[in-house]
Amino acid sequence: MPEEKKKNADHLIDLDAMRLEEIQSILETARIIKKNPGYYSDSCHGKILATLFYEPSTRTQMSFQAAMMRLGGRVIGFGDPGNSSVSKGESLKDTIRVVSNYADIIALRHPMEGAAKAASMFSKCPVINAGDGGHLHPTQTLTDLATLHEVKGRLSGLKVGLCGDLKNGRTVHSLIKTLCREPNNSFVLISTKALTVPAYIKNVLEQNNCETIESDSLIDHIGELDVLYMTRIQKERFDSEVEYRRQKGVFVLDAEKLRHAKSELRVLHPLPRLDEIDYEADDDPRTVYFEQTEYGMYVRMALILHMLDGFKTQMIRPESNSMKNCGNPDCVTNTEPYLPRLFTQENMNICDYCDHETK
Ligand code: NCD
Repeated sequence: MPEEKKKNADHLIDLDAMRLEEIQSILETARIIKKNPGYYSDSCHGKILATLFYEPSTRTQMSFQAAMMRLGGRVIGFGDPGNSSVSKGESLKDTIRVVSNYADIIALRHPMEGAAKAASMFSKCPVINAGDGGHLHPTQTLTDLATLHEVKGRLSGLKVGLCGDLKNGRTVHSLIKTLCREPNNSFVLISTKALTVPAYIKNVLEQNNCETIESDSLIDHIGELDVLYMTRIQKERFDSEVEYRRQKGVFVLDAEKLRHAKSELRVLHPLPRLDEIDYEADDDPRTVYFEQTEYGMYVRMALILHMLDGFKTQMIRPESNSMKNCGNPDCVTNTEPYLPRLFTQENMNICDYCDHETK
């Protein structure tokens, strides 16, 4: 969507719907809050955040909860759907209709791709996508951008290496989509052949004319990078343990590899880290993944303030624009069959929930 057509978003499903100035303003607010946390300690007095986490989480869930509490608001929700009526078979739509009567804002993490978009159609309050399967994770990207601003002083003109599970890593997808919109960023995508970025991310890179190299070697490229974004192999997205084992342990960042990197390199990771970064690398000042987690809380404080300000209750529930089903087995339309079938205006083969192309 061209920048001038974007409007202030009511929900945060994909950062694509936000103008760059809107993103900048959230990052700026996060910096102000970090410097003066006391000023904001009552800003959300009387407000309730619901954290509905259908998948495990430490950072995203807790940073959202801490963010709302530091703004003077309160938190309800579940971190394990097994403890909620989801375990009795309640649909996403019904859960959201109910919870949006109780809360002023919802952060939703769900294993199905497109789940946050689906939820937003039935919610009376703003919905934030806190990760939808292997698809997108926009609030991690806000965290990553806040970190980059702090440690690199800019979001443009960067050579960014992304390494690991680029196929299933939702943080990777959201980050590439947003950094593509900033001028003069180039990308080195480091993965095995089986774990390269999905087609919809390749299309974004092409459409934005971003210089991109695909490689299966970290050591060959580490010396040229300004930023290295390491990621975990996403075990839970694999069909079999055998396939996961084949992929794990292929890329490991250690002190030896860091010797080949520039002194200005900064290493980010959304965490949790497994074996892809050796613990000895934590002492290298170029690794900033623990600082990154702190920015995550401030940026979520800024995001909550931004979204509560000016949200108008208007449920937009479009009608199906196609008879066909999305061919992606991980698309939310498979598990929530009442959802309208929606394909993009530009290409009626591309699912509007999960971006998968069904020919
Ligand atoms: C990431 C996620 O859940 O996608 N973690 C996070 O939110 N910080 C990355 C991961 O689980 O590997």
